[in-house]
Order: sequence, then structure tokens, then C-alpha cells
Amino acid sequence: MKEEEIATLYNQARNWVIEAGTLVRDNLHIPLTIDTKSNANDLVTQVDQEVEYFFVSKIKKHYPHHFLLSEEGYGDREVDEKGIIWVVDPIDGTKNFVHQKKCFAISVGIYMDGVGEIGFIYDVMNYQMYSAKRNGGAFKNNKSLPALSSHKSLETAMLCMNHHWLMKNRLVDESYIAQLVRRVRGTRAYGSAALAFTALAEGSIDAYMTMRLEPWDMAAGRILINEVGGKLTNIVGEDIAPFEKSSVLLCHPAIHQEVLNHYLIPSRQKKI
Ligand code: 2AM
Ligand code: CA
Repeated sequence: MKEEEIATLYNQARNWVIEAGTLVRDNLHIPLTIDTKSNANDLVTQVDQEVEYFFVSKIKKHYPHHFLLSEEGYGDREVDEKGIIWVVDPIDGTKNFVHQKKCFAISVGIYMDGVGEIGFIYDVMNYQMYSAKRNGGAFKNNKSLPALSSHKSLETAMLCMNHHWLMKNRLVDESYIAQLVRRVRGTRAYGSAALAFTALAEGSIDAYMTMRLEPWDMAAGRILINEVGGKLTNIVGEDIAPFEKSSVLLCHPAIHQEVLNHYLIPSRQKKI
């Protein structure tokens, strides 16, 4: 794809994300129909579905040869990695949307031949648009986000994770994670993976661990993160394929290896 075609696609996608954000805000206080998916806490509302449908109809009309991978089932059943794929999460942080009415995001990543080219994460209630173009930098609204600094210590790090890491769980021995929690400056849990990626990109957190994300939870985030030099792997340090679900360790580059080698890998060995 030529640079000007990418620029057109970027502008078009950005406008649709903003339009979708308005749609969500306009529907914020309507009575929600809340359904559950894989379990009683895996929620979906008619707003998630409407926003996804909004993207499907726009993309199919304007770019009929593009594919769409999305959470709520209106996208393509099969996608060809050797093509252009929009990876859409209409509302990332549905529990926040339902219970808090804030701290959720629209996430759209556009991949070409398996490579992330364009990413948007829209923090809907704060009117903040994070965007990135591969090799074109990352932005918050129209302000460029600087590359992450060269130095960071665990003692001054903010770690984003939820409480499941500290309870008995399938993946890790929680006593190692407790040591990590004691060592860092503080912990936070946002309830939106996409917003955790933006927080790391702008330096308000320094590490984010989660046991499982779907491709649409991180599709835009990984493009943003690449542009500021964040390090993204699974919790054993392997790269994550673009359209796979995975555990996630996202870090400031200066602390990634230490979290992995001192806490995550030993916690898994002890578990086995
Ligand atoms: P969602 O709101 O789009 O479902 C909350 O902990 C974060 O993890 C959100 O980004 C949420 O995305 C995602 N998430 C929640 N349940 C998940 C699951 N079973 N698998 C993968 N991601 C999930
Ligand atoms: Ca979602």
C-alpha cells in the first residue's frame, strides 16, 4: 500500500472511531440489555453490538475487500492474513462500561499482511484519542508521545495487574507475584486492556501483566507500543502472533527481562 493510501485509510478510520465514540456516549444512559457470553461475568450489551455493527457496515461498504476480526461476531468468520484486516473491539472494558460508565475504550487496529500499520484507542469518556502509524510515531490527540526513557527501576515502577495473580491460579505460583508487588512502587488495575496499553505508552504505568487477552484487546495497543519502544511478550517471554489470544507481559524495556527472569519464569517453574 502506498503512503498516501495509508494516510487516507488513517483519516477515514479515525473519523469512524470518533463517530463510534459519539454513538457510545449518546447511548450511555439508555437501559442496557446485558447478556453473558463464556461465563456470568463475561458481558456484552446492545451497545457493544451496535458499535461493532457500525464498523462492519462502514468497512464492508467502503472497503469490501478488507477483512474484519472483531469480538462480538459480526466480523468475518475467516480472515486471510495476507490481506488488510481490521481488528476491532467495539468496547474494551465492557464491565467498566456497564458498572462505571467510564474507563472503557474503542480499539481499532489495521494490519496489512500480518503487520500492524495503524492503531487507534479512543478513551471515550475523556475524549482522548491515542493513535499510531507504523514508523510514524504515537500520538495522544495531536500531541506526539515521546519514546520511553532508557532507564527504569522496579523500585520506581507502577505495575498494572488484577488480583487474580495473587490468588491461587492455574498459571503461576502467587507467592512470587506477591514479592513483585512488594518490590514495585504501586499497583493499579484499569479493567480495560486497551487503556493499559495507552497508560504504558504515555509512561503512567511501567508494566502490565494479564493472563489472557484476545487479539482485539491488544491489536491497536501493540502498534502504539511499538512506536514508543515498549516491550510486549507473553508471560514466558515469547513474541505474540498478531491474531492469537495470549497471556501478556507488557513492560518498559528496562524492566521486562527482570520481571520475566526473577518473577514470572520462576513462578511457573515452581507451579509445575
Ligand atoms: P472486554 O471488555 O473487551 O471483554 C478486563 O480485565 C480486560 O480483559 C478487558 O480489556 C477485557 O476486554 C479483557 N477480557 C475480559 N475477559 C476476557 C477473556 N475471557 N479473555 C480475554 N480478554 C478478556
Ligand atoms: Ca469488548
